[in-house]
Amino acid sequence: MLQLKRMETERQKMENLLIPVLEDRDLFEDPKMASLVKEARRMREFKGEAGDELILHHPETVDADRAIFLGCGKYEKLDRETLRAFAGKGVKKCIRLGLDSASIAVPSPNLLNREAVEILEPLMEGAALGNHLFDRYKQKKKHRLLKNVELITFEKEMRPYRRLNEKTETICQGTIMAREWINMPSNDKRPEVFAKIIIGAGRKYKLKTHLLNEPELRRKGFGAMLAVSAGSQSKAQLVILEHDPGTKKKPIVLVGKGVTFDSGGISLKPSAGMEDMKTDMSGAAAVAATLITAARLNFDKRIIGVIPIVENMPSGSATRPGDIVKSYTGKTVEIVNTDAEGRLILIDAMAYAQRTFQPEVMIDMATLTGACVVALGEKIAGLFTTDEDLAAAVLASGEKTFERCWRLPMPEDYRELLKSDFADIRNVAETRWGGAIQGALFLTEFIKDLRWAHIDIAGPSSGKKEGAYCNAGGTGFGVRLLLDVLEKL
Ligand code: BES
Ligand code: ZN
Ligand code: ZN
Repeated sequence: MLQLKRMETERQKMENLLIPVLEDRDLFEDPKMASLVKEARRMREFKGEAGDELILHHPETVDADRAIFLGCGKYEKLDRETLRAFAGKGVKKCIRLGLDSASIAVPSPNLLNREAVEILEPLMEGAALGNHLFDRYKQKKKHRLLKNVELITFEKEMRPYRRLNEKTETICQGTIMAREWINMPSNDKRPEVFAKIIIGAGRKYKLKTHLLNEPELRRKGFGAMLAVSAGSQSKAQLVILEHDPGTKKKPIVLVGKGVTFDSGGISLKPSAGMEDMKTDMSGAAAVAATLITAARLNFDKRIIGVIPIVENMPSGSATRPGDIVKSYTGKTVEIVNTDAEGRLILIDAMAYAQRTFQPEVMIDMATLTGACVVALGEKIAGLFTTDEDLAAAVLASGEKTFERCWRLPMPEDYRELLKSDFADIRNVAETRWGGAIQGALFLTEFIKDLRWAHIDIAGPSSGKKEGAYCNAGGTGFGVRLLLDVLEKL
């Protein structure tokens, strides 16, 4: 879908050309482009301010049916995300106009004082991520995706970037894969089915796959995880995806929370908004899509995805508040609140992963707590780790990909909140304050001497409002972030 092309203004005929414009600086050295932008600036309603939009039909200077100008604000504020958002908005605009293709005019690296890749990569990301619609449940499809998006550059030397479009598109397809799974309704992704979907996708891209079914989980002692699925008609599943390029080094393990629906169980959630809990498998989706993408890109590291999948439902066989279960490590847990189920499936998955694979690093990703959304809002994930290098890596990748993370503390003296009168630990504290921290601290009780980070994505995993390069629904948050982190580890 994505192509990178040199501009030959004389010959090129375009359906429509998307052009970024700044308020206070020109972005094009090419004389034809420069005069085209001048033409736009003559219109009083278009100043290049963020949000400004102008369409000129059959402009004088280039051979295009339409020139679509999008304001990108001031030079000082221009960053990767500005370019990503510009390309995403442009592509979404073209989809809404019912067009088949788009051409994006790439600003001159010279005028922006930046490496070409700093411009090309975010433009490609915005275009690829914006070219997605989730309409498989609609009888009538309102729109169609663009078949082609080409980036038109004016540079002479493009050889270093020849593969960039392929790589970027593959990464963005990972994000889109995760979005599709997240948007799917829970009746079509019950644990047995979701596990099969992930395994099928993994096999297609040459991952090693393994599935632990419920009898095996019972035999191996996944007591905490099984307590969550006890109320459901569906059986718990543990999916393992492995990318093994044949290195002798210890693997990196990624763990993703896969609750295909979180009703809260006997500690039932209020009905308002409960439908959003179909997205409670966003961590699992991100981890599975990351593994598939790492395999497609032939990453040189051994990476293992460990994905516990359950449905959290109330019923006569459901776990009751006050029940005590034995987790994989042998530690007993008093389940005071059945809605704090994510941590119960994660501790068993993580303990199993540490024992089985002895990873170099482990990162878990989970829609774990509403408290994290209260703390950081809907666009920023909570990062918990005691490993400074890992923290720095995740935070930097978050800035680069704009899948932002903010580090939160894990104070030792808060641990006492999780003391139980009857078991080794309780799954929630008596107080709701600091809920995201409580969740993270609970997890640490089940792993030992391990470089580990926990990323709480309850906020950014899905959204009610559309963004510049994402529609309402699952965002696929975490895939680009994890891939960028993996490249550094
Ligand atoms: N899946 C929820 C967390 C969540 C909330 C995800 C909002 C996405 C958006 C999780 O299982 C949960 O219910 N957590 C409880 C924990 C509480 C019972 C300690 C919460 O956050 O209220
Ligand atoms: Zn819950
Ligand atoms: Zn949950």
